[in-house]
Amino acid sequence: MAKIAILGHGVVGSGVVEVLRTHEESIARRAKEDVGIKHILDLREFPGLPYSDVFTKDFDKILNDPEVGIVVEVMGGLEPAFSYVKACLENGKSVVTSNKELVAAKGAELLALAQEKNLNFLFEASVGGGIPIIRPISQCLAANEVTEIAGILNGTTNFILTKMIREHMAFEDALSMAQSLGYAERDPSADIEGADACRKICILASLAYGSHVYPEQVHTEGITKITLEDVAYAEAWGGVIKLIGEVKALENGRIHIQVAPMFVSRESQLSGVDDVFNGILVRGDATGDVVFYGRGAGKLPTASAVVADVIDCVKHMKARKYLYWEDAKPDYVEPYENAPQDFFVHIKGAGTSEEAFAQAEGVFGDIKRLIRKGEEEGEAGFTVNGLGQGEFEAKAAALEDKGLQLLGRIVISEY
Ligand code: HSE
Repeated sequence: MAKIAILGHGVVGSGVVEVLRTHEESIARRAKEDVGIKHILDLREFPGLPYSDVFTKDFDKILNDPEVGIVVEVMGGLEPAFSYVKACLENGKSVVTSNKELVAAKGAELLALAQEKNLNFLFEASVGGGIPIIRPISQCLAANEVTEIAGILNGTTNFILTKMIREHMAFEDALSMAQSLGYAERDPSADIEGADACRKICILASLAYGSHVYPEQVHTEGITKITLEDVAYAEAWGGVIKLIGEVKALENGRIHIQVAPMFVSRESQLSGVDDVFNGILVRGDATGDVVFYGRGAGKLPTASAVVADVIDCVKHMKARKYLYWEDAKPDYVEPYENAPQDFFVHIKGAGTSEEAFAQAEGVFGDIKRLIRKGEEEGEAGFTVNGLGQGEFEAKAAALEDKGLQLLGRIVISEY
């Protein structure tokens, strides 16, 4: 029997136990061995469970148990998860984790340690919850050059935006609804400010291109400034607003990477990814676009990905799965200001909307006006193509010098 330990008995941890117990036979068949839980680490008490006897508060008991060959880390957060995972790998135990903070911050270091020790460090559940995406990129699509990845990687924000688009609900009301339905944390800042999606696109970029990208290197915008007026302009343009994490390989050997709310065309496969669902588009030079869709969070979807990694570890106890990336060279990430993008721009002037638009034309040159339902006097929306953020800011400052107010700007996606 393969004996495992689980660090954490929260939502995902208890889901892992549930999946292992309810699918015991099929898991044993697929792993070619029974899989048993020997320890669960948690500081809380869990009396009255059929497996209450396996709980411990002492990590060293797990670390020093030679029978435990695989440790599942589902605590979340960087510490103590990082110290525990590192100690497990140093002590000859393979590790499976769902912890995106950990993988995004320490992936290169932990993968190098796993390689040195000839162990596995697997993290299918860290991106996209129950959606298979780590294995497809590292294995199934390995014959391709992945030119771009674009994903709706955060269910909380996708739920909020869907409510704003479909029901014209204000941002704050949609956020409250997400919280009351359990789709958003009590402190939702990592979701709504884009940090959660940023960790996930960093993991996918690191995997696809073999060099670690850290969240601090990525331009990140959340959805807190998105208004119902923006949603109406996106509709007039022919699309919807989605929070997109994207990475592109550039010809200069660098990558362009960002997280931002974007206008997404109704023609795009990502435009129909609604509610708490995630969708990830991987563009390969041989395959063209491949799109992955499903539940990106939640107890059982995430636990399913964790347990699949456990099965893989059991089947490969003496062989490493190929999963690796290195630390990146300096200047690997293209400065955000340089990348030319298309933008939607929303302005307001003291005169008529036509006057505001004419002034914007004077500054930006070739722009295209959008008219939303219920547009107010003095307000104008337009799209402009192929500007770097630096260039955009210079033009926005010129507009403000003319007395126009910049209400917002949103990237227009290419997907
Ligand atoms: N709050 C996150 C989401 C959880 O909604 O995607 C999964 O990372």
